Amino acid sequence: MLFSPIEIGALSLQHRIVMPPLTRMRAKLPGNVPHTLNAEYYAQRASAGGLIIAEATQVCPSGQGYPATPGIHSEAQVNGWREVTDAVHARGGKIVLQLWHVGRLSHSSFQPMGQLPVAPSAIAAPGLHFSADWTQVPLETPRSLETHEVMALADVYREAATHALEAGFDGVELHAANGYLVEQFLLSSANQRTDQYGGSLPNRIRLLSELTQALIDAAGADRVGVRLSPFGFGQREEDAPLITYRYAIRALSEHKLAYLHLIEPRASMSPLTDSASEGIPSASELFRSDWPGVLIAAGGYDPKSAERAISRGQADAIAFGRLFIANPDLVDRIRADQELAPWHRGTFYCGGASGYTDYPGLPRAHSPEALA
Ligand SMILES: Cc1cc2nc3c(=O)[nH]c(=O)nc-3n(C[C@H](O)[C@H](O)[C@H](O)COP(=O)(O)O)c2cc1C
Repeated sequence: MLFSPIEIGALSLQHRIVMPPLTRMRAKLPGNVPHTLNAEYYAQRASAGGLIIAEATQVCPSGQGYPATPGIHSEAQVNGWREVTDAVHARGGKIVLQLWHVGRLSHSSFQPMGQLPVAPSAIAAPGLHFSADWTQVPLETPRSLETHEVMALADVYREAATHALEAGFDGVELHAANGYLVEQFLLSSANQRTDQYGGSLPNRIRLLSELTQALIDAAGADRVGVRLSPFGFGQREEDAPLITYRYAIRALSEHKLAYLHLIEPRASMSPLTDSASEGIPSASELFRSDWPGVLIAAGGYDPKSAERAISRGQADAIAFGRLFIANPDLVDRIRADQELAPWHRGTFYCGGASGYTDYPGLPRAHSPEALA
């Protein structure tokens, strides 16, 4: 099933193995510009008719929350990304860009003129965070966005999506997961606004809907996906995450998007376990009936559990995150039923080429051509 073709919106794919967005903090400084090393990394992981969702990419300077993450708001960034998309297309692959604003998960050292990060409400997230000089610092209490500033975000995302298409991307994904800005609006623990963007469920999903519509305006619905993490860390403080997410997913379904991308609960994020057998609710299983379109599931899958999820109809395609980091030729390895290499956590977010483009591919003797 993993190797059966699928249409994901406007994209005709030859298999259902997706590379999900993976922040690797290796853009060129200054300017957070994608460059040749990034193009090489993505080209290594591209496959004929396969889909890559490129790493979270800030839509504007205030959207940045980590050092050396790429943006899509300057001309140099658009040109840098073009090198990446050309390299992936040359291998017959498709690539969409994940559009990101971190909201309160930033630090003043990243912000224009050293201002405070912005968020739905002036509520600090717990814990430590990277500052621009790569040290760990406590998260600051953000500034609450004015209503007119929230309304203006649609323009920022529309422009970012336009830039992404200019850079050669085949589509865009709205990052509405993992505790970042759009999710901060969804959750009452981070959103205590009293205007039209806070309070009731329709109000808390308003930004999600407006940004989705902005991306549709720029790219067309069949080139837009949305990523949600219904079991992310912020949700633990929520009264009713299931109700919130069911409502959000049903509202999104009216947009006829290319896909919905759901992250499975973190507890199951071990690639060699079967999340279903642990008795943990699966996001894709839980929300399948609310989403009539293509559903991509991510989080803790191995090739076997991926096959199972697809054959049960729980998901239409599966994203493999850490396995794609460690196995540049993951698609070939799964096809040839070869062993998968382990990842090195220490180089996830730093290391230049080390732990990035130097994971070896399958020895030639095991390549699908040789086995055939
Ligand atoms: C190093 C690293 C970076 C990540 N960066 C992003 C990101 O930029 N955007 C995002 O939505 N998820 C991000 N994730 C989450 C992955 O896309 C994926 O959902 C997660 O790794 C679970 O899948 P896996 O068990 O197959 O690794 C990241 C995960 C890792 C390990």
